[in-house]
This record gives sequence, structure tokens and C-alpha cells, in this order.
Amino acid sequence: MVQQILLLLLLILNRSFCDDYYELLGLKRTANEKEIRQAFKKIAVNLHPDKNPDDPEAHPKFLKYTTAYEVLKDPELRKKYDLYGEEGLNNDQFGRQNYHSWSYYQDNFGIYDDDPQVVTLNTNDYDDNVVNSEKIWMINFYSPMCSHCHHLAPDWRRIAKDFEGIVRVGAVNCEDDWRLCRRLNIQAYPTLLYYPKNSHHGTRYTSKKTYEKISEFIMEHLDVSIEKITSTKWKKLIKLLDENNKDYYNNDKPLLVFTCGKERNCFDNDEQLKITAMFDNIIDTGIFECNKNNCNKLLETTGAVFINNIKNNDKKNFILFNDINNIDEFVHDVLDQLPEPQDISNDYFNDIKKNLEKNDNENGWLVCFYIGHATDLDLQLKKLPSIITDVNLGKLNCGKYSSLCSNLNINRYPMWGVIKPGGAFELSHGKSTINDVAKFAENSIKAQNVAALSADKIISILKRQNGKEVWFLDWYAPWCPPCMQFLPELRKASMQFKKSVVQFGTIDCTVHADICRRYNIRSYPTAMLINGTTTTQFTNQKTAAGIIEFLNEVVNPTVIKLNKDNYYKTVGRKDDTTLWVIDYFAPWCGPCQQLAPEWTIVAKNLHLLDNVKVASVDCDANGELCRELGVRSYPTIRLYPFGSVGLNQVALFNGQRDSTALMQWITNFFPTKIKNFDEEKLRKNIFNNKSKSKNKKDYWLIDYYAPWCGHCQKLEPQFAIAAQLLKNNSIGFGKFNCDTFGSECNQLGIQAYPTLMLYTPENKRSGIEITSQNAQDIKNNILNLINKNSKLHDEL
Ligand SMILES: *[C@@H]1O[C@H](CO)[C@@H](O)[C@H](O)[C@H]1NC(C)=O
Ligand SMILES: *[C@@H]1O[C@H](CO)[C@@H](O)[C@H](O)[C@H]1NC(C)=O
Ligand SMILES: *[C@@H]1O[C@H](CO)[C@@H](O)[C@H](O)[C@H]1NC(C)=O
Repeated sequence: MVQQILLLLLLILNRSFCDDYYELLGLKRTANEKEIRQAFKKIAVNLHPDKNPDDPEAHPKFLKYTTAYEVLKDPELRKKYDLYGEEGLNNDQFGRQNYHSWSYYQDNFGIYDDDPQVVTLNTNDYDDNVVNSEKIWMINFYSPMCSHCHHLAPDWRRIAKDFEGIVRVGAVNCEDDWRLCRRLNIQAYPTLLYYPKNSHHGTRYTSKKTYEKISEFIMEHLDVSIEKITSTKWKKLIKLLDENNKDYYNNDKPLLVFTCGKERNCFDNDEQLKITAMFDNIIDTGIFECNKNNCNKLLETTGAVFINNIKNNDKKNFILFNDINNIDEFVHDVLDQLPEPQDISNDYFNDIKKNLEKNDNENGWLVCFYIGHATDLDLQLKKLPSIITDVNLGKLNCGKYSSLCSNLNINRYPMWGVIKPGGAFELSHGKSTINDVAKFAENSIKAQNVAALSADKIISILKRQNGKEVWFLDWYAPWCPPCMQFLPELRKASMQFKKSVVQFGTIDCTVHADICRRYNIRSYPTAMLINGTTTTQFTNQKTAAGIIEFLNEVVNPTVIKLNKDNYYKTVGRKDDTTLWVIDYFAPWCGPCQQLAPEWTIVAKNLHLLDNVKVASVDCDANGELCRELGVRSYPTIRLYPFGSVGLNQVALFNGQRDSTALMQWITNFFPTKIKNFDEEKLRKNIFNNKSKSKNKKDYWLIDYYAPWCGHCQKLEPQFAIAAQLLKNNSIGFGKFNCDTFGSECNQLGIQAYPTLMLYTPENKRSGIEITSQNAQDIKNNILNLINKNSKLHDEL
């Protein structure tokens, strides 16, 4: 009983301390900025203390709502809140101690929030949308407190409506987004900025802020051209208008010709420019001055002709437009002539997915998720086929199919996703520009073995409920640049592995914040391999090559894993003739994790030598063994040299734990030694004119080096390994320090360090340079040379 009361009390306390901001405002966690603002406005207008003078709690309650709103509307704070809850905000300055008056919320809150044609921009998406855009942008920086701003609003809405698809019209509420406005040096309201196509900086619009003047300005800056069609070209085109003509207009874009002339019904100049701008990059436009003599009879009442091109030939050859009074209808009709982006319904989406799950050699789908009007989007979608091929295109209205969209974690619009052959789904986090979307679609569809995971799937993987499935998981946040760089690398790497070996899953921690928190994912990106009960952290370099190496090492380890069962049977054997070098580690220790990839490199290098073994012991899993062996700190690196029967000899490594230093240390214990040469030895052993004495080697391999040279240090262990591989071949090995014996090296014509020289009986003085850099190649090279030499001998 007491416990129950305590629990209840705790729950109550817990609730009053930790309101869920989304619940408080009645929002889904996927709510976009506009929805957040709209929800808060509703609350503000109803629950404002001014309107509830009798409620003593009205003020503190309203402060809570204000705080929730302040946090959720700020992308940075919202991220932190999503990931770490209120705790994550502790050190931030947030939450107002006061708020605006009731009338502010009633009248002044976000002037353009309800206008579908005006794009509300904020710090987070401003650059992505505006900078280097394929469309012209006009942006209105306003404050809801400024009366001029309200005055301009109806005109600005009209501009947005009338220029939809021609220019992009945006608005920034500087009261809400003062950081962005400060960065752009906005000093007065309203300020209008104009961004030409593909530009990085806006210029200030300085004329009068009226509908007429702003329209004029836009028309002057459209930056498009209309071809003047010559009579010759016109004659050719006319031929194509014959139904029986089998030719097509041979061009990569269709052509739209305005047929104008005296007393003809034709679009005026501005209208022609607008249409041209709207179809920029999709359709070429031209104008032909028509008169009774040169205008085909067919075209007497025609104001425009649409001539299809060869690429688009599943549609009619041409379309004549007689009634061209309404530009919107006209644009609509022209759009109809372009290949359709399909409207995808809930059911159709699922059908596509099911079908692709079964057939992994059919084309994938690129789907655009949108709300509101899709005019702009249709244009963009219709442009895509000219950039990417072999991909189906569709659009899905999230206003209509909201539950599907929320299941797919769509949280802004437009958002692009792919359904891949094999059925995996992935969302793009990059820019919405046509080129970025195309790039994403191509890379993502190819990477059939990468899927964005649903919450259920993640949990079942983490709870090991997936039988034999092996998963490489990438935990990321879309706002973290290293994460966005890692994703394409992951896709690239994934193509090297079959699903039956390992599957790749991505987890967006802003969407699955609960799970990420529960599994204590604290930095992004975090990646790991989950195979049965084993989890292996990915600590390699965050590149495709790094992932491939990591997975290969896990599947086919070069480092031998020792444990309490096999340790004494292998390392301590009495008849053991191998050299062992062993890393005793604990999985949680940072320096151990750093050593791991270096240790793999060491193992790979030494793989060539049958009698050298590189191993590791997990001292967490084999505590008793490590205690028996007296391992007291992690990592401990021990070497049992050749002949250390029963572990009676051991060497400890105390140097820097990188592969180069480790290799240098280990190769010191190799039986075939590399002699340090001086001038005297060089002369005696190699440049000696007398006939061979008994002890002399037939061949000498000398490494000319300088102690300070990095490449020399890299070559050293390779040279040492090569020496072991070549030990049966009557070759002597030496190294010669060109820092100490500079003049000798000069005389010998050594021009770079390191230089490897092979001296044979025939090439005693000049030597033969060996340019290989790794042990295997050095060995092969030298055996080749020696064999050639002995053949020569035999023939002589
Ligand atoms: C997963 O574990 C199994 C059994 O231990 C092993 O055979 C397989 O190679 C592992 N796969 C990967 C990718 O690590
Ligand atoms: C070796 O022979 C060369 C020419 O055959 C001669 O120039 C050189 O002095 C000789 N060196 C020695 C150490 O005898
Ligand atoms: C060297 O010769 C011995 C004896 O003939 C042989 O057992 C060994 O495998 C050879 N080693 C190499 C590296 O060829």
C-alpha cells in the first residue's frame, strides 16, 4: 500500500517536473515548424493570462507553454530536447520569464504561417534551400511588430501566388529567428532580399514595396531567354505537325513555340517570360512571328504549339493551343504533355514495396512526400527523368496519407525517399535540389543492403530476436555533418556484402530518440556490428574502406582470439616453435579500443610468417586466465619469443601503441638478423674483388636509410619480414645509415631514402635497385632476380 502511494507520488512529481513538451502543446514528435507555431498560437489565444484573470495559475501555466514552444521552435534546442529530454537543456539559456500580450498572439504571430505559397524559412533550412538554388528567391524579412510589414503582407501573398513555379517566395520572422536575421545583417523591417539563380548571396531590393514594383523587378530579373524562330526552322517544324509524319523533333527537350503576329491571340511578353521561367531546363521556348503567308492554315487560330521531342515520344507529337487566355490552365495543359510523376496512394505504396521485396531486379522508386500544392514539385519531378534513368518516380501526399507518412518518419516537406529493389526504404537528409535528390536516389537505390530501420526492427535486433541475422548498425543524427558524410560511405561499403552475411541498418536518433537514449548512444555517428550475442564496436576510420576492413576482420580474423579453453593448448605447448605476440585487453578500455585497429594491421603484416602468431585475449570474458597470467593493466602486450618453451621467456612492450612502433619491436625478435653496416663492412662483404671465402654470402640486400625518414621506418618491418621469408637463399641482409655515412651513399649514387639494393655476384659494384615496398613483393622480386641469375650461370 505504502509502496503504491509512493509510486503514485513519484509519478505525479515526475509529471510535474518533466512535462513532455510535445504532449503539452498537443503535437506529434514529427511536427514541423509550422505545426508547432499553429498549435502554440491556439493555446496562447485561449490560455493567455490576460484572458483568464480569475485563474491564479494562469501565469505559471502559460510560462510552461511558452517554454515548451521556445524549445521546440528552435531547431538546436529541439534536437537536444529530442535526444536528451529536459536534462539536455539544463545548461542552456531558454525559457522566457515573460511573454507577449494576448493581442500579440492573436494578431501578430507569424504573418505567413497559413500561406502555402510563401515558404517560411528558418536558420536550419535557410542555406539548404536558398543558397545555390536552381530558382530565383525573393525573401521577406519581417517582424510581426512592424506595421509596414503587415501592410506589405497582402501584396507579398499575391506575389507568391502569381509567381508560383517561377520564383520562390520566402519569409523569415526575425522576431523568432533573430540569429538568422543578424547573420544576414538585416537592420530594418521589412527587408526584401533577392537571390539570382545559383547564387550564394542575396541583394537588397530597394524599390518601392508594392505589388506592381516588385513584380516588375522580378520580371526584369528572370534570366531566361526565348529563341526567335527563323522561317527556315519554322518550315522544318511545320512538317512535324503532320499526323502522318513519323519523324520526331530531335532534341533533348520539347519545344514550345508562341505563334504571335498581328491581331493574333498570343501571350504577351511578360507571360511568355513567366512560362519560360517556369519550364526552365525542361522545355525550350521559342517565338515565331506568324502572318497569313508564312503561317500554316492549321495554325490560324493557334497561340502556341507544343512540339514533343524524341525522348518523350509516348505522348502526342504535338499539341495546338487555341484558347490561351488563362496562363494557369495553359501551364497545366503543357505539364500534362510531360511524362507523369505518379500520385501514390497508401495502398499503392505498400504494393510497390511488396513487389520489390520479391523482385530485386526491378527498378526502384524515388518518392517525394509533400503536403499542399504540388505545382512546383510536379515541375521538379518532371525534370528528374532527364537526370536519372531506370528509376520510377512518384509523389505521395502526406496531407492525405498522414499515418503512412508518420510511420515512415517523414517530418518535413518535401522529403524524398527511395524504395529499393529488395524492399528496403531510405530517406534523404540532403538538400531538396534536383541534383542532390538525383544523387541520393542513385546511390541509395544501388545500396540495396542498407535500410532505415523502424523502431520495432531496431528493438528486435537489439533484443537478439532475429535468429541468424547479422547487423551493422549506424546510429546518426541528420544535423551532424560527420554522420552525413558517413552515410554515403556506408552505402558504398554495403555493396561488398551479401545480406546473408551482414545487413546494414541506419537509425535516425532524432526520430528514435527513446531507443538511442535507452541504449546510451551519446555521440554520432556510432556504429556497431551485432552478431548473435556479440556486439563489436566499429572504431575504424569512418570510410567505406574502413568498414570493409572492419567486417572482413570480424568474419575472417587475422588476430587469433585466445580464451581460457584454448590458451594453454596453443601458446604454452612444449613443442611450440612459434613466436607469439599477445594483446591482453578489456573491451571497455579506451586505449584498448585505439590499439585494436593497429593490432589488426600488425596481424595482417605478420600473416606472411607461418611461425609468428598475433593474438588477443579479452580479459573481461576470461578474467581468471588473465589473473593467472598476472595481467594487471590494459592493454598489456607480451611477446613469447621463439624457443620460449612453456612460456619461460617473455618480453613486454612499453612503446607507443601504433603499428609502426609495434612492428619495429616485434621484428627485433626475428631469427634472421639485419646487420648494421658501416663503410668497412660494406667494402669487405660486397665490394671485395677477391674470390669468395667460405663464410661469404652470394647475395646481399642492403637498405640505405636515414633515421629521420618516415618511409624508411615503414619499410623497416617489411624488410625484416622479407628477410625471414628469404632466409634459405644464401642472402645476407644489412642496413646502411646514410646520415652517418653520407659521402659513401653519395658515391654509390643513392638519391632517395629508403633505397633497397640487391648485390649479386654479377652486379657486385652497381647493385640492382628493388623498388617494392612490402615484404611479399620484395621476396618475389628477389627470388625472380636470383633465379634469372642462376639460369644465366647454368647456360654459361
Ligand atoms: C557471425 O557469427 C557466426 C557464428 O559465430 C560466424 O560464423 C559469422 O562469420 C559471423 N558473421 C559476421 C559478419 O561477423
Ligand atoms: C677492385 O677492382 C677494381 C677494378 O677491377 C679496382 O679499380 C679496385 O681498386 C679494386 N678494389 C680493391 C679493394 O682491390
Ligand atoms: C627453409 O629450408 C628448410 C629446410 O630445408 C625448410 O624446412 C623451410 O620450410 C624453408 N623455409 C623457407 C621459408 O623456405
